[in-house]
Amino acid sequence: MSDTLHTERLTATPEGIRRAAELLKAGKLVAFGTETVYGLGAIASSDTAVAKIFAAKGRPRFNPLISHLPDAESAFAQASLSGRMEEIAHALAERFWPGPLTMVLPRSPNSTVSDLAAAGLSTLALRVPRGKTALALLREVGAPVAAPSANVSGTVSPSDAFHVLRSLDGRIDAVLDSGPCSIGVESTVLDLTREVPVLLRPGGVTLEELTALCGPIRHPDDFSEIAPASPGRLASHYAPSLPVRLDATSIAPDEAQLAFGTPLPGAGLTWNLSESGNLEEAAARLFAGLRFLDAEGTRRGLKTIAAQPIPRHGLGLAIRDRLRRAAEPRTHAATLT
Ligand code: TXA
Ligand code: MG
Repeated sequence: MSDTLHTERLTATPEGIRRAAELLKAGKLVAFGTETVYGLGAIASSDTAVAKIFAAKGRPRFNPLISHLPDAESAFAQASLSGRMEEIAHALAERFWPGPLTMVLPRSPNSTVSDLAAAGLSTLALRVPRGKTALALLREVGAPVAAPSANVSGTVSPSDAFHVLRSLDGRIDAVLDSGPCSIGVESTVLDLTREVPVLLRPGGVTLEELTALCGPIRHPDDFSEIAPASPGRLASHYAPSLPVRLDATSIAPDEAQLAFGTPLPGAGLTWNLSESGNLEEAAARLFAGLRFLDAEGTRRGLKTIAAQPIPRHGLGLAIRDRLRRAAEPRTHAATLT
């Protein structure tokens, strides 16, 4: 991908959506907003189109992508469902789709998703996003759209079109701007192919909500245990360039503060996720805050981002997970997603 592309700026109008769909169908890369984060879309049936995602992101190929569909019916057509798993999948879809839930299901032999998008696995990650523009786009395309977060691998996920352009301008064909994302952290990834469902990635739908509907779910407190099943969970993800220190209860003079609730005294630079301690607000402000503290902290010669403790319930689980991965020591680039 050495050539620089002209990246079209499209607005969330019928015309913009039609153009975005046309580009996707022609095998081009289009970033689009969902309620979680911006996705970098390509038509999932085409290995060639999907390969462009990996190239633009600098993402390792073994990492499978989520396929996005406009409704449960078209999503389930890509999967082989039976028995109890089918019941649970339908109940989850009824309750959470469209919305920030990704289900990992057995891949149907008739699935149109390419091997590259599925990373050669016998399972498939499926999601029906919420958000009028995303749904209109998917309907217009009429086929699964593979879309990881629209950022360069290992960097902070984009929660508006401006963030997308900062890292991918000239590397993708278009961005469809539907404004800032309402949730701000990625979808919850739930694997339904095991005996007991496994939470592979905490996200926009909370564990409490899922458990209420499908009963027991395996969810190691320390998510590192299940890393191999969901490669996106590997260390050093969402990495700002400044190191991140978790559960800070005091601030050193050379630290920038990522606050939650009442800030700690002594920080020269603070981004408050939510002054009122609201987890929804905190999730929506998380990636923008990391990006801000990283850029401004670096400019001011600060050495670390110190994050105040985040509660372990509701969306707090997803926020803690993203912060923990931001705090991981940098590893070999091939482990980033
Ligand atoms: O909110 C989201 O989910 C966003 C928006 C754009 O939809 N997408 C997103 O995609 O976060 P990505 O590629 O950054 O994360 C996909 C996650 C990764 O952790 C990946 O390993 C996991 O889903 N995944 C995908 N297919 C899988 C499979 N067959 N089995 C297990 N995990 C899978
Ligand atoms: Mg990502």
